[in-house]
Amino acid sequence: MIYIQNVVKQYQTKKGVVTALDGVSIKIEKGKIFGIVGYSGAGKSTLLRMINKLEAPTSGSIFVEGEDITKVSEKKLRKKRQNIGMIFQSFNLFRSKTIENNIKYPLKLTKQYSKDEINTRVDELLEFVGLSDKKYDYPSQLSGGQKQRIGIARALATNPDILLCDEATSALDPETTDDILALLKKINKELGITIVIITHEMDVVKSICHEVCVMEKGKVVEQNNVFDLFTNPIHKTTKRFVHSVLNDDIPSVVKNDRHIYRFIFNQQQILQPVLSKVGRMFEVDFNVLYGSITELTDKLFGNLLIEVVGETGNQQKALQTLAAYGIEIKEVEGFENRLN
Ligand SMILES: Nc1ncnc2c1ncn2[C@@H]1O[C@H](COP(=O)(O)OP(=O)(O)OP(=O)(O)O)[C@@H](O)[C@H]1O
Ligand SMILES: [Mg+2]
Repeated sequence: MIYIQNVVKQYQTKKGVVTALDGVSIKIEKGKIFGIVGYSGAGKSTLLRMINKLEAPTSGSIFVEGEDITKVSEKKLRKKRQNIGMIFQSFNLFRSKTIENNIKYPLKLTKQYSKDEINTRVDELLEFVGLSDKKYDYPSQLSGGQKQRIGIARALATNPDILLCDEATSALDPETTDDILALLKKINKELGITIVIITHEMDVVKSICHEVCVMEKGKVVEQNNVFDLFTNPIHKTTKRFVHSVLNDDIPSVVKNDRHIYRFIFNQQQILQPVLSKVGRMFEVDFNVLYGSITELTDKLFGNLLIEVVGETGNQQKALQTLAAYGIEIKEVEGFENRLN
């Protein structure tokens, strides 16, 4: 659906050249919810603006549905843009227009629809986002979450195949964030729209994304499906982001001289009582220091920090047996590696 190939974006500023994107390549498959995470200034918004060519890259190619949009004509580009909706952190609604007219705006721009078609479409969209009763209100009369729903309705007006979201939930409280994320999920599932979502909140990634890439200083430092990225982060920045939601620090009361292991369970293993079984088999005890089960893209991920207590030979046998069940086991050496 979207293929970004070796894209560089530089800005000339008074202080010199700023490289916002430094050789970025990513592939976003059709029908997926793709997350882009990174700290402030990493280049996320710049990358997103490349996809609908709000800005052109300094070099590199951007293929949207097979066509390099850096090379298409203005006319074709306008057509392509109708196929890409976008929503923003600050909603970007027209304050002086009613909700109805905000949603009508992109439809009128296309000059392809009759008045009746436009009216029907507006009603459909308002119903879809659950705000039919706000049709004649102005944006200032709506809450943040309602404004974002209208932003979404407007972005979907021209029936796009792609929806770009730049920090769409960052201005919202947690509960409203969940509502908007549920709506995005519904859009992806029911309408089959590919969604690209920028966020600095891993909770957002955890609850709706399929794939995610992590950006730092204009580069993509890691890309993976959500399950593998959370269960096995490789880059230091990814580890920090993952850590921010899994909260799996070793408690500070635990001294450095103990043998601590991290056990990673997948869905099937969570449903089997393997720990107690293996413990009895080899006469070892498992002392649980931390445990969590997280739902990631409809799969369960169990993460336990465990001290193994017992005779050394038996400990090893127990660990080997657990590994044979498919549980991933990593020794946590010292505790200096809490973050890296
Ligand atoms: N129009 C511009 N002119 C000059 N520099 C720019 C311009 N737009 C972005 N930059 C620079 O490019 C870099 C990436 O900016 P970008 O807005 O893409 O970051 P971001 O990851 O979206 O950050 P945030 O999370 O704060 O929104 C920054 O160093 C920024 O200062
Ligand atoms: Mg940004």
